[in-house]
Amino acid sequence: MPQIKIAVLGSGKGSNFRAILSAIMSGHLPVRPVLAVSDVPGAGILTLADNLGIPTMVIREEKYRTRLSEDVESALVGELRAANVDLIVLAGYMRLVKSPLLDAFPRRIINIHPSLLPRFPGFEAWKQALEAKATTTGCTVHFVDSGIDTGEIIAQSEVPIYPGDTPETLHARIQEAEHQLYPEVLARFAKPGVF
Ligand code: GAR
Repeated sequence: MPQIKIAVLGSGKGSNFRAILSAIMSGHLPVRPVLAVSDVPGAGILTLADNLGIPTMVIREEKYRTRLSEDVESALVGELRAANVDLIVLAGYMRLVKSPLLDAFPRRIINIHPSLLPRFPGFEAWKQALEAKATTTGCTVHFVDSGIDTGEIIAQSEVPIYPGDTPETLHARIQEAEHQLYPEVLARFAKPGVF
């Protein structure tokens, strides 16, 4: 079966990438990760990729904390082009994506966010949901644009919030939903003719 090529970008523990890899290994997801990129040396996605022989790249950004300098992002674009990626998958990547990358891959960068957007964009969305005393939240896969979690929504999954939930229990429940949703969305992109 033909496979689409993805690059995965992440800054955290990498559980979404692990879920994507599990779906691939189960034989149901015709997707090939060709590059794992992190701005955090030692990030989970790098270890997962290393263990499977998937090429990795560590971004070194010294000027900004919430984005990349234009030259650093341009270098990343070069690597992504060289790897011939069809789709860029943000999985816990905690920086804003700016114009060199957005312009190079229009409608080819997707992100997973731990809330039902447009509610609770930004940092630690599960804490925002608890503070707002919401009774449900969830996760969203969306196209990335220049805003903070504002791009077109592709798919969502709802998660209940229970009395007594802590930030940890709620985030864990949202992550279970993320681990289902992200491989499902990738399967849609992997259908013949999408790219
Ligand atoms: C996920 O919950 C993801 O939704 C969130 O970071 C976590 C990464 O977990 N992303 C954001 O908040 C982006 N705004 P992981 O490293 O275990 O996949």
